[in-house]
Amino acid sequence: MGEMLCINGGNCLSGEVDIGGAKNSLVAIMVASIVTKSIVKLENVKPFDDTYTLIKILNKLHVKTLYDNKDCLYIDSRNIKNVKLNIREVMKIRASYYFMGALLSLYKKVEILGPGGCDFGGRPIDLHLYAFECLGVNYTVKDNLYKFIKKSKSNNIITFKKKSVGATVNAILASCRFPGTVIIENCALEPEIDDLISFLNKCGCSINRDGENIIVEGKNKLHGCCHKIMFDRIEAGTFIIMGSLLSSCLKINNIDVSCMGSVVEILKKIGVYIIEGNNFIEVRKKEGYFPIDVVVDAYPKFPTDLQQPLSVLLSVCDGESHIKENIYPSRISHIQSLNSMGADIEVSDNVISVKGNKVFKGNSVECRDLRGGISLVIAGLLADGKTEISNIDYIRRGYSNLIYKLNKIGADVWIKGESNNER
Ligand code: EPU
Repeated sequence: MGEMLCINGGNCLSGEVDIGGAKNSLVAIMVASIVTKSIVKLENVKPFDDTYTLIKILNKLHVKTLYDNKDCLYIDSRNIKNVKLNIREVMKIRASYYFMGALLSLYKKVEILGPGGCDFGGRPIDLHLYAFECLGVNYTVKDNLYKFIKKSKSNNIITFKKKSVGATVNAILASCRFPGTVIIENCALEPEIDDLISFLNKCGCSINRDGENIIVEGKNKLHGCCHKIMFDRIEAGTFIIMGSLLSSCLKINNIDVSCMGSVVEILKKIGVYIIEGNNFIEVRKKEGYFPIDVVVDAYPKFPTDLQQPLSVLLSVCDGESHIKENIYPSRISHIQSLNSMGADIEVSDNVISVKGNKVFKGNSVECRDLRGGISLVIAGLLADGKTEISNIDYIRRGYSNLIYKLNKIGADVWIKGESNNER
């Protein structure tokens, strides 16, 4: 049967939640650590499933790791070897494609399987491959195995036709040891990219952002450093949405409020009571929320990773709301389950229409992806009665210590099933 996440819904939430390090920053920086060929110490490293998957891939490359399973990870890549990455773990997660850029910064020939990750429709990597080609890399792909080979001629300028977090990261990684200066244009603006740049600069790189352009002056010799992973703005947004539905007063700690602009703006427009501190947000439930039209797009617009949790909040607003999903229009696997719990959500092209004034009731539902999974948790917390959620490994990919954190603020949540082993 596998493990189930069970919720007795309806409890009021209150107290404080400490937000952990960001998954999407961590996965880039863990891979980036190999370009240093030194020892790095990473702090605020949370035990996501992706953390362990990346550790296995690093170990395959003869990179040593030491993790205390809660916060601190050492990565020693002094004896890294250019091993063909054709292991299952590479196809399990998305971020494994950062090894393409990182290994290309070190070696002339690289062989690696294509990435995996949550399946929500086409997730092309053409922009990543374009960036490598600009840097003089040729490639072939057969049976999902990419073979890259570096030629001498290159452009030194990469102009993305579309903003992509992953392609921006890969372009930075592939250029950080490149001889000369590389200019990367039309880069993504997500704060996790700036966290990566900050880490690499501490290791001796010279990378500067000028708005949407990033200038990389390649350095041949890098060194290790100690770096604290930035806070997880999606975990923070998830708890803010939970608080707006269920809390008398919920304080969300350890965040940088300046990265939460679009989320705070949208929730305030709905009518949520929010106080912004220096490094915290306090949120309280109010009655009579307003419906709203939201556009999901690249940072600093409202994030696609909070589109699914937001659907639950919009379901209790006083009227119909619309979400225009411009990043991943097919990321809607949660909708059927939310509807089975009482929501009334429809999708037409890339517009998600959410009817308001709904009441959720407990049900047995299944996770199909990470952020869809957490939206089911939020619906379960709000629902009358008991909710059982299966396939919860998806949720573990992006939320660490979730059961502990939820119970601490008053929820009634537990894991039922095989191992009873909560991370
Ligand atoms: N795109 C292309 N070609 C490419 C790459 C992307 O057309 O080569 C398109 C995508 O299809 C999408 C848009 O560009 O429409 C933006 O995608 P992006 O490349 O920015 O996404 P990503 O790097 O694959 C990261 C996060 C995602 C998050 C998105 C958007 C990581 C490891 N993943 O993905 O996180 O949804 O940015 O912000 O950083 C999650 O945490 O649940 C998650 C999926």
